[in-house]
Amino acid sequence: MSKAAYWAWLDGAKVQGIALHDLVEQYGSPLYVYDGNEIRARLLAYQQAALQAKIHYAVKANSNLSLLAKMAQWGAGFDIVSLGELRRVQMAGGKAADIVFSGVGKTQEELRYALAAEIGCFNVESEAELWQLADVAKQMEKRAKIALRVNPNVDAKTHPYISTGMKDNKFGIAIENAERLYQAAAQCSDLEIIGLGCHIGSQITQLSPFREAVESIKSLAERLRAQGIAISHIDMGGGLGIQMQTGQEVPAPQDLLALYSEVLANSDYALHLQPGRSLVGNQGILLSRVLSVKQQSEKQFVIIDAAMNDYMRPALYQAQPPVRNLDRMEGEQESDIVGPVCETGDTLRKAVSIAAQAGDLIAIAGVGAYGMSMASRYNSRLQAAEVWIEDGTADLIRRRDSYEQLWENEIGTSFIE
Ligand code: LLP
Repeated sequence: MSKAAYWAWLDGAKVQGIALHDLVEQYGSPLYVYDGNEIRARLLAYQQAALQAKIHYAVKANSNLSLLAKMAQWGAGFDIVSLGELRRVQMAGGKAADIVFSGVGKTQEELRYALAAEIGCFNVESEAELWQLADVAKQMEKRAKIALRVNPNVDAKTHPYISTGMKDNKFGIAIENAERLYQAAAQCSDLEIIGLGCHIGSQITQLSPFREAVESIKSLAERLRAQGIAISHIDMGGGLGIQMQTGQEVPAPQDLLALYSEVLANSDYALHLQPGRSLVGNQGILLSRVLSVKQQSEKQFVIIDAAMNDYMRPALYQAQPPVRNLDRMEGEQESDIVGPVCETGDTLRKAVSIAAQAGDLIAIAGVGAYGMSMASRYNSRLQAAEVWIEDGTADLIRRRDSYEQLWENEIGTSFIE
């Protein structure tokens, strides 16, 4: 059987010849570690498909500046949802023309800044936003390049919290209203229509929802073109899932592109995509030390120094990430892997067969996406450090927080001299 995708780049307790124990010695734990070569390979899987798609990496999946800089060097554009993400992309050297601005609520400040920066496209999610953008563009004497993000009412067959393309989700413009809005936008000289977009959800592990969505978007694009509206690109968003358990079959980027290529055959739309998780998810692990092992009635708890603030997905979406003890073979004893945070929801992995002792190094896999980018400082915990390994060299790409950073923005009168 082939190695699971989330462990494939680990050779025992080493990555590219670098001992994970040494990294933790040097930088402490919890520690996020990414394999840059594997991330590059995932991006290439998208870039080298027969159907040339323009890739806008979804910054929210992992927004570390070094990662963004690599993505820019490797030719990816960026999908952003806030001014903070836009500023990050600029810091990392991303080109404005390669930025798409998604998101269901954009502030005036964000619209203004993005227009001044001359980003590639605004993916507009409501009629109100369309006119706000047109107003700002008029004031600034600019023309905003737009696509409408349409909600095709497709069931992505994923966790309800990360399903976005059904008609009762807050996202996008209902498909039945799209033609009317495009017509209205076409009359407005402050707006330049360039495309049509959608994004139906995340961690989607079957191709059928993508097929349903692209068929529906393509036929809408044809209707719009027939009405004289210049749709030059179709943006299918992100959403491709990753393997999270052994034996789970998940389509590869090539499979998704083959599907889009089949449906879009004999048409000349440029295809744009916004993958996040499928580029970085299985290319990151979280390393954490065992603090203690505790027997409580029938249960065994392995208490580690990483917690829900470092990795939110188990608490938020009941994710069950693969876990391994790098210091001993798998044991028989079923355990819950928990963190020190004062909540029962602070369980990083339920019911896993593992042997563990205090001091062991645990690896949690599949956490490269929506791991560090969703981390918080809850319980006044310091956010983790991050290490990037590429071509046999490990670099620290984020220092661990300092205690001073925990309260640096807190001002008051009672204690400040
Ligand atoms: N484009 C848009 C407009 C999006 O909203 C998203 C994700 C993406 C692209 C990237 O989707 P991906 O390829 O990564 O599936 N925190 C959740 C995931 C939220 C995804 C939100 N939107 C999680 O940890 O599962």
